[in-house]
Amino acid sequence: MATDKGKYDYELGLRPATYDDVHTVLSWRNEPATIRNMKTKRPLAFEEHEPWFKKTISDPTCQFLIIEADGEPIGQLRYNLEDDKAKVSTNITEAWHGRGVASRAFVAGSKHVKKTGFADVIFARVLQSNIGSIRAMQKAGYTIDDDMEYEGEPHYYMSHDLTQVEV
Ligand SMILES: CC(C)(COP(=O)(O)OP(=O)(O)OC[C@H]1O[C@@H](n2cnc3c(N)ncnc32)[C@H](O)[C@@H]1OP(=O)(O)O)[C@@H](O)C(=O)NCCC(=O)NCCS
Repeated sequence: MATDKGKYDYELGLRPATYDDVHTVLSWRNEPATIRNMKTKRPLAFEEHEPWFKKTISDPTCQFLIIEADGEPIGQLRYNLEDDKAKVSTNITEAWHGRGVASRAFVAGSKHVKKTGFADVIFARVLQSNIGSIRAMQKAGYTIDDDMEYEGEPHYYMSHDLTQVEV
C-alpha cells in the first residue's frame, strides 16, 4: 500500500490486516511495553481477542493496518471513526522500538486516511508518560491541543488536521 525508505535502512509498508494476522497481533498486544500503555493492564487470552479481531477487521468504521519492515509484519496501526474523526492507536513489536517506525507509520497512515477519504482529522488521547508515542506523533505533524485527566490518568489530547497533508 504505502512505502517510504528515505534515510532509513529498512522499507516501511502498510497493508490492511486480514484474519491471518490474528495471532501476531495478539502477541504484540501482550508484550510488556504495550501492556503498560493499555487500559487493560494484563495479557489478553486468544478467546477474548479473536472475536474482537474478527469484528474489527471487517468494521467499515475502522481501518486496521499492519506495519511492515522489508515485508515483515512488525506492528499494527488502527484508525477508528468517532464523530467523523479518526482515533489512532498503534503498537510495534519491542525489537523494533526506537528505529523511527512509529513516526514513519503515522506519516504514511495520515496519507492513507486522507487518500481514502476516511476522515479529515486524526486524534488520540495519549498517556503523558508515553514519551515515545508523543514524540513520534509530533514528528508526524500532530499537535498537543489539551492536557486532561482521562480514565483517572493524565493524558494529552493530540490531533492532526489532514488539510495540509500531501497524498
Ligand atoms: C510508543 C511506540 C509506538 C513508539 O514507537 P517507535 O517506533 O519506537 O517510535 P520512533 O522510533 O518513531 O520514535 C519517535 C521519537 O520518540 C523517541 N522515543 C521512542 N521511544 C521513546 C521512549 N520510550 N522514551 C523516550 N523517547 C522515546 C525516539 O527517540 C524518537 O525521537 P527522535 O526522532 O527525536 O530520536 C512504541 O514504543 C510502542 O509500540 N509502544 C507500546 C504501545 C504504545 O504505547 N502505543 C501507543 C499508544 S496509542
